[in-house]
Amino acid sequence: MLETLNPQPQDKILQLIAMFREDPRTDKIDLGVGVYKDATGLTPVMRAVKAAEKQLWETEKTKTYTGLAGEPAYNSAMVGMILGAGYADRAASVATPGGTGAIRQALELIKMASPQATVWISAPTWPNHPSIIKYLGMKMAEYRYFDAETRGVDFAGVLDDLAKVAEGDVVLLHGCCHNPTGANLNAEQWAQVVDLLVARKAIPLVDLAYQGFGDGLEEDAAATRLVAAKFPEVLIAASCSKNFGIYRERTGILIALTSADRKAVVQGNLNFLNRQNYSFPPDHGARLVTMILEDAALCADWKAELEEVRLNMLSLRKQLADELRKATNSDRFDFVADHRGMFSRLGLTEAQVNILREEHGIYMVGDSRINIAGLNSKTVPVLAAAIAKVAG
Ligand code: LMR
Repeated sequence: MLETLNPQPQDKILQLIAMFREDPRTDKIDLGVGVYKDATGLTPVMRAVKAAEKQLWETEKTKTYTGLAGEPAYNSAMVGMILGAGYADRAASVATPGGTGAIRQALELIKMASPQATVWISAPTWPNHPSIIKYLGMKMAEYRYFDAETRGVDFAGVLDDLAKVAEGDVVLLHGCCHNPTGANLNAEQWAQVVDLLVARKAIPLVDLAYQGFGDGLEEDAAATRLVAAKFPEVLIAASCSKNFGIYRERTGILIALTSADRKAVVQGNLNFLNRQNYSFPPDHGARLVTMILEDAALCADWKAELEEVRLNMLSLRKQLADELRKATNSDRFDFVADHRGMFSRLGLTEAQVNILREEHGIYMVGDSRINIAGLNSKTVPVLAAAIAKVAG
């Protein structure tokens, strides 16, 4: 049986981790996978997470199964963090293994409910989106998103393409901090997109993996909250990997907003999907998140540290834009300071990306996406000089 299997293509982002590890150069720079690193290159365990873990170790009395949907306290704390108050009667939800688990469960739910629906993704998007959609055998279409000239949003392209969405189609939207480009819709553009998709009777699927990494915890939820307020049905796949720094704990949530009448049936289907795929969702990370969100002191400390992380990335963006201005004697990389979140797509060719890796030991994804958090004040000028050399 197993001899019939063909080799799978390597995931372009995860492949970089191995290549970087094997590179013997000591001055190599890793700007690949989206993991936050401090100035010393460490991905720290956040203070509030450590404190919650200590408390949990002291107080936890059992490790028996949780519920199929996870712990209700986690789900309601997450719905509150993402949407604010007022959604208890509309929100069905399940805890999932990370944001990827939430995306996967969302797509499976769509497939069960509406097998003919086309899922629209931005061009470009996180490569795992189209990969899972194809794997599930679902229909897929792309809407233009990124302007390769300005490295901003091609908003005319977005509107043109989303005008072709059919009733009942699903549109995957990045709630904040677009991955891989770093280019985001402003509030006015979000309002236009929402009006257009309401008129098309589309179903939004919001991927919210970086809440707190862009303009602030509340600010980064604004677009998702607008979507939640305007559509009768919304799917939201959220991740705690980045904003709580608990990547390997696999902590995410899928929220399905529906009518109060349909909520119990939708919840039953979400529970069913969890049962088919892995029974009970992982609990450790979800429990830490719940403890932090429910405890005023832990929550304040977590928010303060998250804000430090966000401001550090913003300051690295400014430094990089300044250094690129100097190194290239032009303003064509100024967009780096306007982008938000962990990533910026620089607009280099694949050949230039390869030269940066081979000759300068600088690792970025092939589409020239860099992880801003992989930089520090010493490596920013090194990167700027190398970019000027290959693309100057
Ligand atoms: C990324 O885009 O680098 C992250 O979301 C990590 C991943 O799983 O790809």
